[in-house]
Amino acid sequence: MSVPSSVTIHSPATVANMVCGFDVLGFAVKEPYDIMRICFTEDTGITIINEDDFNLPTDPEKNVAGAALLALMEELKEPVGFELRINKQIKPGSGVGSSAASAAGAVVAANKLLGDIFSKEDLVRFAMNGEKVASGVKHADNIAPCIYGGVTLIRSIFPLDIIPLQAPPLFVTIVHPQIEVRTSDARSILKQQVLLKDAIKQWGNIAGLVAGLQQSDYSLIGRSLEDVLIEPVRSILIPGFDLVKQKAKKAGALGGGISGSGPSIFMLSKDEATAQEVAKEMKSVFESISLEHHTYITTINTEGVKFIN
Ligand code: HSE
Repeated sequence: MSVPSSVTIHSPATVANMVCGFDVLGFAVKEPYDIMRICFTEDTGITIINEDDFNLPTDPEKNVAGAALLALMEELKEPVGFELRINKQIKPGSGVGSSAASAAGAVVAANKLLGDIFSKEDLVRFAMNGEKVASGVKHADNIAPCIYGGVTLIRSIFPLDIIPLQAPPLFVTIVHPQIEVRTSDARSILKQQVLLKDAIKQWGNIAGLVAGLQQSDYSLIGRSLEDVLIEPVRSILIPGFDLVKQKAKKAGALGGGISGSGPSIFMLSKDEATAQEVAKEMKSVFESISLEHHTYITTINTEGVKFIN
């Protein structure tokens, strides 16, 4: 089989948790995405070249893409060398899977260069090492949808058990207030114990959301987008959160909440016109408190990482 001399990819943003599914649910979106290019080098090891202004580390062990590649290289029979160019369009610390896009993109691109020797599940396993560098823990709810596309359920990470889910057409409004929330900080404030009555509500909602997605039942999806465990704690990190949510729902959103560990907030809508209206209302809250923000109106990306050439 002929293998390419270099691989260029688009690695998409992802929305982890899907409100009620902390660490177990996530979906990929069409925009934004990072652009990455990988090729072999004569010398062994990893060379990282950042083509953006985020000033991220280039030491492979400290870089999320580098850490993911190192995990992949450990399972190769022969030593190899990679040069990886990263042009990040997904701002780090935005809550839409910036670290996952780098880690997943790097190993998907490297695998293509190597002639597709690893499975998607292997690639998720390697890429989780990037998440460990970024947040101190391995989690796959951004990595899995980035690699598989669409909505994914991560039933377990040790051992990995990833279930791609069907979903009806959904429009996604994401508003990113320009503050940074580090995933490690957003995890450190969470309670380590939950009440049984809250756990019952939460697993009812997760099951309801999965059933709603499988059955294309928009009303059930909307009713299930409720988080009684994580959102009440984390929402204090996002100015205007409650009002943003209230206004978005009034404008017709099915529901939504914190994207990943925040500060981005996402809302799902049935059609584009509603998603636009929802964006307007969400923006109005941040405008009223003079908080700069970026908005994306996009759809679920069923493809995941995309090969450009
Ligand atoms: N499930 C992770 C969290 C996603 O919420 O901490 C981080 O993007």
